[in-house]
Amino acid sequence: MTPKVIAIDGPSGSGKSTVAKSLAQELNLTYLDTGAMFRAIALVLNEAGIEASADDTIEEFLGKMQFDYGRDENLVYINQENLTEKIREHSVSKLASIYSQNKKVRSYLKELQRKIASERESVLEGRDIGTVIFPDASLKIYLTATSEVRAKRRYLELLEKGESFSLEKIMADIEKRDFEDKNREIAPLKKAKDAIQIDSDKPTIEEIVKQISILYSKVKVS
Ligand code: DC
Repeated sequence: MTPKVIAIDGPSGSGKSTVAKSLAQELNLTYLDTGAMFRAIALVLNEAGIEASADDTIEEFLGKMQFDYGRDENLVYINQENLTEKIREHSVSKLASIYSQNKKVRSYLKELQRKIASERESVLEGRDIGTVIFPDASLKIYLTATSEVRAKRRYLELLEKGESFSLEKIMADIEKRDFEDKNREIAPLKKAKDAIQIDSDKPTIEEIVKQISILYSKVKVS
């Protein structure tokens, strides 16, 4: 059976989280920020001193770990620790990009994401939702924007949280991360063949949300 899922993929800063959150509210869907899941696992593995290539140790660690997603208004807890704020730090972006290349991490999260989304109509955003997690999603969107626009968004976001980096550094980091996410061996970021590409440079979030809602209402009845 085709899962009732909206899959939104795209590079960092393309507006996936804002759009997905807003869609979830408007259409009463469960919202899965899969990047937050990768960030949280990368953070704890790194803090535990486990290397991203240590498959067996990672598997053992994940087997014992308690992962709570969306338990309350906070997004993510691991072993009862609320990591919702910490995973947004700039340094964690890089860690997530590295640890997300590990196959044990990916298969752990694939199972979890499919389980959560099988329970209720959902919107998932990430890098591999339409290609790997839900290749049979009802609607697939590939959201993108130029690296200049994406870097500016991240710059302002980080500034608001009290982290100040130059725009040049953020742009260089974003481009490096895009490269790593698009060129990794497992589940690289790419547009699914049947995904609809939306450019978020110019339209407002409201316009994009409206466009996706209309597309979804059409696939839901077909
Ligand atoms: O969307 P984000 O910036 O929070 O994601 C952080 C990193 O996690 C990103 O660089 C790659 C990884 N990621 C992934 O590999 N697959 C996903 N579905 C989501 C994120």
